[in-house]
Amino acid sequence: MGFPAVRMRRLRRSKLMRDLVAETNLDIKDFILPLFVCPGKNVRRPISSMPGHFQLSEDELQRECDTIASAGLRSVLLFGIPKEKDEDGQCACKDDGIVQSAVRALKKSHPGLLIVTDVCNCEYTTHGHCGPIVDGDVHNDRTIDILAKQALSHARAGADIVAPSDMMDGRVGHIRQALDKNGFSDIAVMSYAAKYASAFYGPFREAAESAPSFGDRKSYQMNPANSREAIREVELDIEEGADIVMVKPALSYLDIIRQVKDTFDVPVAAYNVSGEFSMVKAAAEKGWVDEKRIILEILTSIKRAGADVIITYHALEAAQILAKEL
Ligand code: PBG
Repeated sequence: MGFPAVRMRRLRRSKLMRDLVAETNLDIKDFILPLFVCPGKNVRRPISSMPGHFQLSEDELQRECDTIASAGLRSVLLFGIPKEKDEDGQCACKDDGIVQSAVRALKKSHPGLLIVTDVCNCEYTTHGHCGPIVDGDVHNDRTIDILAKQALSHARAGADIVAPSDMMDGRVGHIRQALDKNGFSDIAVMSYAAKYASAFYGPFREAAESAPSFGDRKSYQMNPANSREAIREVELDIEEGADIVMVKPALSYLDIIRQVKDTFDVPVAAYNVSGEFSMVKAAAEKGWVDEKRIILEILTSIKRAGADVIITYHALEAAQILAKEL
């Protein structure tokens, strides 16, 4: 049967009708908002390339979480900007480190919030790479030892999920073992499983002060040209014990999100990264796009591609837009 009996426009006639048959619905329960915690008191330092985002001291972080919680958001992803860095990133493993103490404070003040911590060394090393440098490159096996220590310190502080973002081989298994051996078998691992060496991380590196001082991350993050390799990466992480697997960035990698979703039965996360966020902000500032509509369209596309969890700097705005829409 075809036209004129079939008229596809019938179901598009009104918003009520369109909403009734929408295949994809955004839900703020799926959002995770990234936040940056820095040393000091009363610090709320704007990140110039990411309008609306700040480096927050612990007290300001608490205030921000009041706003977040009252908007109905439930999950945050914490990044730390430490006072001092070292060659290997060992300072990331201290029980009184920047992230660890923020987690402890948040768990007390906002027990209803799900806390995810980014596990990586690049914010903690003097050179900005994700682990100790040996012969000009990041040393895989020494790095995963430090990452396991870091993840364990986050778990001790009370993190609900640890999220390794470094792309070293074997780190998920190493972290899983360290957690299990120390009584944290209930703490989940969300691995940045298919993480690409992307120019879309530019604004984040200003935010987290983690730009590599030499070279790039192409010897450990994936080549944007590859998709079969993403499946192998995800498969390995699941074998090593990842509970949730992530594809990052999101928008240029919607095909990867879909393939991962169709291939595996674990929850899939997608990271709508800083560059994706900042491009929207810049275009909106110039009046070139309708910001609210663009935000919802982008998030919907990520969900439609197969993401169960969406990590996005738009989370708070999106929660506010969605609340008004209903
Ligand atoms: C740390 C890390 C990065 C991001 C998340 N964790 C930066 C990088 O790999 O260089 C990027 C997040 C973003 O751009 O929003 N390794």
